[in-house]
Amino acid sequence: MVETIEFLQHRRSVLARNMTAPGPDAAQLRALLGIAARVPDHGKLAPWRFVVLEGDDRAKLGAIAAAALDDDSIAAHYERAPCVVAVLACPREHPKIPRSEMILSAGAACMNLLTAAQAMGFAAQWLTGAAAYEDAVLKALGGEAGDEIAGFIYLGTPSEPPSERARPELDDIVRFGLSE
Ligand SMILES: Cc1cc2nc3c(=O)[nH]c(=O)nc-3n(C[C@H](O)[C@H](O)[C@H](O)COP(=O)(O)O)c2cc1C
Repeated sequence: MVETIEFLQHRRSVLARNMTAPGPDAAQLRALLGIAARVPDHGKLAPWRFVVLEGDDRAKLGAIAAAALDDDSIAAHYERAPCVVAVLACPREHPKIPRSEMILSAGAACMNLLTAAQAMGFAAQWLTGAAAYEDAVLKALGGEAGDEIAGFIYLGTPSEPPSERARPELDDIVRFGLSE
């Protein structure tokens, strides 16, 4: 599919501060979350959860984050976009599958959600920020001990098109064959 390849070659994230309404409607969001859950997942453990934040929940979570970090400047962070999806990595003990693989699967879920939203024409950005590492924030999202916030995926409409950003030179990051 040439179109898919061209999309992937050119897709870009839009900064949360350059987002405006609308975000995805209920049907679009359901489609996006279904795509987010369609990721490689060793052992079919589904080690991720999605928490959709719209309306007042964004300000409520911002207040929790600001209190946890003692930093009022982040209170309005989640209100930059009309819709924010918190992606939780929920690894569990498994005799064969390492925890890191479950975290990687949650990262894949973040990327699928980001990419699908951008393919639908939405502005999207994957952010964490210091609040993602606060227990109070994880708890407010329904996370349990051992869970991690893989990302907040901000979803909205671009208020301006993103400019391209520098990408690594392939020669710097690709090697063919084994190292000596
Ligand atoms: C796990 C993760 C966390 C991130 N957290 C932040 C963040 O807190 N603040 C920030 O400015 N960018 C953060 N970024 C980077 C943004 O997503 C940035 O917009 C992205 O690099 C743009 O890339 P793209 O245009 O290729 O999608 C994060 C990226 C990842 C993968």
